[in-house]
Order: sequence, then C-alpha cells, then structure tokens
Amino acid sequence: MSGIVGFMGKRKAQPILLDCLDRLDYRGYDSAGIAISNLEGVEIRKTKGRIKDLRDVLLREPVPGGQLGIGHTRWATHGQPCAINAHPLTGCDARFIVAHNGIIENYPQLKKELEQEGHIFKTETDTEVIPHLLEQHDTGDFEETVRLVLPMLKGTFALAIMSQASPDTIIAVSQDNPLILGFGKGETFLTSDIPAILTYVREFYPIKNGEMAILTPEKVSIKTVTGDVLIPKRIVVDLNPQDVMLNDYEHYMLKEIFEQPKAIEETLAGRLSEDMVYLPELEEVWSEEKVQNLRKIDIVASGTSFHSGIIGKRVMEQLLGIPVAVSLSSEFLSEHPKLDEHTLVVFLSQSGETGDTLSALREAKKYGCSTIAITNTAGSTISRKAECTVFTKAGPELAVASTKAYTSQMAVFTALAIWLAQKLGGTGCAQIPDLIKSLARLKQDVESTLIMTQDAIDQFAQVIYDQDHIFLIGRGLDYVLALEGALKLQEVAYIHADAYAAGEMKHGTMALITPGVPVIALATQHQLLDKTISNIKEVKARDAFVIGITTVGDSLVGEVVDEVMYIPSTHPFLMPVLAAIPLQLLAYYSGTVRGHDVDRPRNLAKSLTVH
Ligand code: F6R
Repeated sequence: MSGIVGFMGKRKAQPILLDCLDRLDYRGYDSAGIAISNLEGVEIRKTKGRIKDLRDVLLREPVPGGQLGIGHTRWATHGQPCAINAHPLTGCDARFIVAHNGIIENYPQLKKELEQEGHIFKTETDTEVIPHLLEQHDTGDFEETVRLVLPMLKGTFALAIMSQASPDTIIAVSQDNPLILGFGKGETFLTSDIPAILTYVREFYPIKNGEMAILTPEKVSIKTVTGDVLIPKRIVVDLNPQDVMLNDYEHYMLKEIFEQPKAIEETLAGRLSEDMVYLPELEEVWSEEKVQNLRKIDIVASGTSFHSGIIGKRVMEQLLGIPVAVSLSSEFLSEHPKLDEHTLVVFLSQSGETGDTLSALREAKKYGCSTIAITNTAGSTISRKAECTVFTKAGPELAVASTKAYTSQMAVFTALAIWLAQKLGGTGCAQIPDLIKSLARLKQDVESTLIMTQDAIDQFAQVIYDQDHIFLIGRGLDYVLALEGALKLQEVAYIHADAYAAGEMKHGTMALITPGVPVIALATQHQLLDKTISNIKEVKARDAFVIGITTVGDSLVGEVVDEVMYIPSTHPFLMPVLAAIPLQLLAYYSGTVRGHDVDRPRNLAKSLTVH
C-alpha cells in the first residue's frame, strides 16, 4: 500500500522526509514525491520509480530551504505508476497539496460534479478529487475548508494536506487507514507505519477516525472534525532502532529469516511455565464461563497470515474439540459462516492494518462475536478495534515477504489454543504438557534448523533457479506449509510454484510432472510418513527431481528422494515452524540468484489497506 510521511521542526525537512520514505517504501515503490514549504510557498517534486529516483530528481531540481513537508511512496490502485499520478497531488491551481493512502470510493461521482463546475483533472487517480474539492469549498481558512470537505469523502483514507495560503501548516486525517503522529523534541512527524520514524521518536499518537491533527511550528492540535479540541494520549513504543537497520545483512528478508530464534523467544517470553500457558492480556475478558460458552471459532486472515491461520485451525480443533473455520479476509464479507455471540473470531495480521481483515473485524462485531487480534504491530488499527490483542513480538518486519511474523504467529496461536484448552478442559488437554515442552524448546530448534539448512538450500537454489515450475507436496500440516512455501517462491523468486496435498496429485496434477521437474516433498508429520512416501514414489516414477524435507532420525525419506534435507523433530503442531525455514531460504536464494529485489518484489506492497 502507499505510505505517507510528514515532518515539521527546526531541521531541514528534505533529508528527513527522504530518510523516512526510504524506510517506508515496503508499502509501495512505483512512484514517489515530496512537498516542502519554505514558509513562502510549497514546492513539489515527484517521479515514477523509487525513493532513489526521487533523490535524483531533487539533485537536478533542488527544493530550497524548508523545515516542514510531506512525502509519499505509492503503490498504484487507480491510474498507472507515473510522475503525473504520483503524490502529492494538486487541483487546478496548486492551492492545496494532498498525499493520500486508501481509496476514495465515491470519486467518480465527485469528479463528475467537479468537472461540471469547471475543474480540469490531470490524473487518473481517485485522490485528485480531494484538492479540487478543497479549492471548490475554499473559505480562506485552511482548517475550516478541510472540515467542510471531509464529510463528502467516502472510503478509507489517510491524508496529509498542505496549503499554499497557510504554508506553515500540515493537516492530517485518518479514516480507517493508519496515520500516526510521532513526537520528538520540538519536532513532529507523520507516518503510515511506526518503523519509518523509529530512529527519530519513541512517542506516538495514532490519529483516530473523526479526528484531525493540525501541525504548526508552535503546536500540534488534535481536534474532532467538528472542531472540539482533544488531549491525545501518547503511546510509547519500546523498539530498538537497530531493528529497522540492515546491519551486516544484504537484505531485510535474510535478516528477518535469521531473526526468527529471537522473534520466537520474545513472543513466548513470560507466557510459558513448565505446564501452563499464560496470556494475561486475555484474562480480564475471558472468564472460564465465557470460554465454556464458546460454540465455535472463526479465524480470519490474508496471505501468509491466512496460512498460519489454517495451521491454527487444525491445532485449535484438536485441542479444543469445537468447530473451527478459517476464512480469507477478502472473502469473509460475502461468504462468512453463521456468526453470533457464542462465536470467537480470531484475526491474524502482521501489520494490523490489512483493509480486508479490518472490514471482517467490523462485520464480526456487528454480530456480537467475541474478537481476538493476533498482530505484530503495537498501536495498529486491528489491535485497537479488537476486544483483546495478543501480540507477536517479532519486531518490525520490513521485507515485503513475511517470514518471522509467520513463524511467530504460529507460536502464539499454539499458545492461544493451549490457553483456551486449559480453561475448557476436555480430551485435547492430554497433549498440552508435551506441546508446552516443545514450545519452550522452539527457539533452539529454530536456531538448529537455520544452521542445518542454510548452506544446502543456498546450493540447491543455484541448481533450480532457472526452473519455470516447482511443485510442493505434503500431507496434513505439511500440505498447509507447502501453500506458504509456494507463496514465498512466487513472490520473491517469481517462479511458478504450486502446492498440492500429496495424495491429490494422482487426481489430475500428475499430468504436469515431467522429467526433471523439481518437487519439494515435505515429510515432517511422522504419523503420515508412510502415505507421503507412497506419493513421493508416484512422482519419482514420473522422473521428477524430488527434494525431501524430513526430520533427523528418519531413514525412509532419504531412500526415495534425490536429495534429502534434515531438520530437528518437534511436536507435529510445531513442525511447520521449523519446516518453513528451508522454504523461506529457498525463496530468498532463488530470488537473489535470479537478480530480483527480494525485499521489494515487483507489483507487491506490504500492509494492504485497500480492498
Ligand atoms: C506474503 C505477505 C502477505 C501478507 C498479507 C497479509 O509474504 O506478506 O501475503 O501476509 O498481505 O498481511 P498482514 O499479515 O499484515 O495482514
């Protein structure tokens, strides 16, 4: 999704805005722009491409002076990625300057009305209606004009607005789309995501629906859209600036893959004893009686989070013995299961801002469901809107492809399932002591998996990197993990990778198996090993090149595959956490050997706040 930044202070705005945009460009990287005010007027520079291209433009056409401004990095939704469509955008006469994230749903109608009033549109974007509307309703008072226009806009949006007539002011608005204020000494920041400004500030305030932030050199005021002044309650985010640095790594994706032991450790810290799981954040809301009254659970998520949701479903079903369904966020509104006050809906989201997941959360609340969010982002919209939140503590995830957030989600989801099972009692509880022991060892197992697989995967990637197709097969949780492995290969290596339930190949897909085609066979679920081995033999009989991933101590898989890779053995529910690692590494090394920008894959963005 697109990203917005803003700065107001006593230092030069341009380098700070560019630095923040650099850290935010995982939200979009097809075009970028900034607007800077030197208190006599506002100057805009924009370009197609990435922040480095914007830097080149600024070298050629510098913006003189200026201690306040806004910036934008775009992921196109309406209109091609090009300099004209890049933000900030202006109307007919550049009186108002707008950076926008989200979608203005009623823009066709607004555009038509404005064109009838004589406004000339220059871009194909939905955003452009905003500066035209501001011009149309300009009262001469910047704040009042914004206040008049906001109710005309339908959709989800975050806006940073400047005005030529009030060059010392930035107005920021957030409607179901994140925009966060950061407070430093004598300076204020705006950002779509906290990590972008983490090197500058620790105190934040997420602007809420129905509020406007008015930034001037003297002060920052938060007002309701009707003009009442509010006292913002700041949140302090305790993150280490090193977490957003590359340090010695070439890419964030590799850094984040290697941060998984720490992410798992921090996510589980204080939540486990020898035989119990503790989630104090749920205690106040979830009495034993409330858990006993639960009739079913729905899990809602998108992308990689959806894949950890499917694993979570299977773990919960076995531990709790009540029905658990899992839905894609984008499908939930049209096809959701029956919801009522006996339903718990769990929302999984690394960013806590995914638009579809947020809409599903609103829908669940309409039906009186209980809601729990699992997210990695403190202060995120989903964490604020859900009844309770259990945070993964993976630290900021900056590569577009999710890695450490995925494995941390699976760890925390298992902890949540155990916690509910403790309150519920029942047959599933017999597995709990074993599972807790495995959770307690998980960090070490993840560390060992990284050591055991990194070099072999790197070499393997050098062999298969030029393949057009890769198949991943597995049974049970191995199949669910195969879905995630395929997604990783698609998004960073741009290889057509598909996941199949191993037993389903013979029902059609086997026709695609040609001599030499790489098949990754996941065989980490011991109880399913015999059947998986039969399926491996089926693809081997068609001369596929099979790489098996199995656990230390298994001697069977190695006999039927071309190459075998061993990972540590843990509780079957947690095997996907370990087996995810070689698949993440494979995507990373295949992507780099193919020469891709693995941190910023083409056409993708992190944090998709549009529907
Ligand atoms: C894939 C990836 C995406 C996200 C999806 C949901 O590597 O990162 O598929 O998982 O966009 O994002 P969150 O978890 O932030 O809701």
